Amino acid sequence: MHALIFATNNQHKVDEIQSLVGIDFTIIPLKAAGIDIDIPEPHDTLQENAAEKAGTIFKLTHQNCFSEDTGLEIEVLEGAPGVKSARYAGEGRDFKANIDKVLQNLGAKKNRAAQFRTVICLIWGNATDGFKTYYFEGICKGHIAIEMQGEQGFGYDPIFIPEGASKSFAQMTMDEKNKYSHRQKAVTQLFDFLRSK
Ligand code: IMP
Repeated sequence: MHALIFATNNQHKVDEIQSLVGIDFTIIPLKAAGIDIDIPEPHDTLQENAAEKAGTIFKLTHQNCFSEDTGLEIEVLEGAPGVKSARYAGEGRDFKANIDKVLQNLGAKKNRAAQFRTVICLIWGNATDGFKTYYFEGICKGHIAIEMQGEQGFGYDPIFIPEGASKSFAQMTMDEKNKYSHRQKAVTQLFDFLRSK
């Protein structure tokens, strides 16, 4: 049995990842680990932010842990909102305001190609052999809808339609979203790696 602290306060991410975990893994969210901090995401890349989050939790706990950082990358907006996805419309991290800003910036543009990209940072090892840092990436390609569709999920889910689907992430159950999602792809690699250890 592998126990891993997941460096996030986002319950949606915990639920999504928990639903992918086999019985051979226990995921411990920050709250359950008794850690009550808002981890900063000050960097210009998803990888650096993921490393910052996992590194912060490892310094506090000295236990195996992982974090993830995700961005929505829109082609005609040159990759924006990208690493700034959570705060695209300001520090309030307001999902609706972020969506409104994306739809406004895209206007009636024909090219609505976009992708979600997740980077996971894992700090893994033991006190005898030491700990190492590993990265895993998952990408989900798709496009931005003309308007919001659906109520499920979080963040940009109501305006993101993954390739091969005809509805938005917010119109899917969690299991359906997990068949396509960036997070599922990165998490699958993480668990494959851990199972190989
Ligand atoms: P972070 O990884 O917590 O920094 O996430 C950045 C932002 O991206 C979140 O606040 C959400 O707005 C958005 N986001 C991350 N993952 C998803 C997802 O699976 N669906 C929709 N939006 C997401």
